[in-house]
Amino acid sequence: MLRIDRIANLLPERIRDRLDPYLEAIGTMAEVGDPRVLRSLGPPGVRGMLLKRGKQGVPTLIPASHKAFFDWTYPHDHPEMEELYRRAKQGQWDGETYLDWSTSVDPMNPELALIPEGFVDFTAVEKYGIKLSPQEQMQFRYSLCAWMLSQFLHGEQGALFAAAQVTEAVQFFDGKYYGATQVVDEARHVEVFHRYLDTKLNRLYQVNDNLFVIIDALMSDSRWDMKFLGMQIMIEGLALGAFGMLYQSTREPLLKELLKMVIQDEARHVHYGVLALREYFTQQLSESERREREVWAFEVALLMRNRFLAYEVYEEWAEGKLTRAQWREVMNLAPGMEAFRRTMFSRLVPNLREIGLMSARIQPAYERVGLMRYFHGAAADKITGQQMIRELDAAA
Ligand SMILES: [Fe+2]
Ligand SMILES: [Fe+2]
Repeated sequence: MLRIDRIANLLPERIRDRLDPYLEAIGTMAEVGDPRVLRSLGPPGVRGMLLKRGKQGVPTLIPASHKAFFDWTYPHDHPEMEELYRRAKQGQWDGETYLDWSTSVDPMNPELALIPEGFVDFTAVEKYGIKLSPQEQMQFRYSLCAWMLSQFLHGEQGALFAAAQVTEAVQFFDGKYYGATQVVDEARHVEVFHRYLDTKLNRLYQVNDNLFVIIDALMSDSRWDMKFLGMQIMIEGLALGAFGMLYQSTREPLLKELLKMVIQDEARHVHYGVLALREYFTQQLSESERREREVWAFEVALLMRNRFLAYEVYEEWAEGKLTRAQWREVMNLAPGMEAFRRTMFSRLVPNLREIGLMSARIQPAYERVGLMRYFHGAAADKITGQQMIRELDAAA
């Protein structure tokens, strides 16, 4: 990576900026040290970051191959999953009637702002000679919020398909019952996020390349536990953090209610992921296999931490005015993005610990990137969706 950076620095700024997406993609992959992890993330990385498969219109076909696990004896083999299934059935809600879709949403109304004024620090942009009027700042926040919700929507589509796949592949029969409820939950999430974007914000951004890479990697991996790890722990963890942050900060009532309902479903999904993987990772895998997953999870966590930087909004607002490197700096310093990363990792890291992917060997790597401070938090099996909402309300 360093060598690529040094060569790039010799190029004129304009050319360097044009090459930046490719240099960034190559840099990301060059950082992955473990060859097994590179084999798993490499091809999705090429498809997502270099070929931009997620941005080429419909359809995107991702080959999936996994074993469907049948059991003709229908055992009740996991009491905690059985209980989760019961709770999931009782927690169902209808996105069409439960939410008040007659609410009129004005993304430019400062009284009911989608995201708060302090979400982006505009003085950081002024440093580069760009001064936005209060009206333009509002427009910008509207774009950023629509971008975040679009990524939630794309993530939900991935979750819908992944939930269907893991329902086939999981080896617990109680897990299959539970998994079916998650498929319905995710379909509802796609429904409500799409309806909100389509009818209230009138915007839809394309899928972020890095999100595409993670979705592609877990859809095409034939190992059921990698699907679980990718979707139920990593992407769901990311979603929970992001939903929580937005729930806390938005003043738009329909969005707030929508997020509150989705968060309660998502809390069950992550709980299920922890249950399914804890025993498998800590008791059934060899140390070398466990190690591979541990490194994979760390690399994906880094991908989410460093690379989820709203380039799709950059292309709309700042291309030609800021370089991509300057944009990265603005986004990294945005207080809202910092809050987003904080809530995301405070949820994710305890879950990784709980499923046995935070051994003493990997902890220094987390320490280096400042994520060890979340190590002692409560994992998803210890906290319900309602508790999560209460905590978010109390901290707001
Ligand atoms: Fe979801
Ligand atoms: Fe989910």
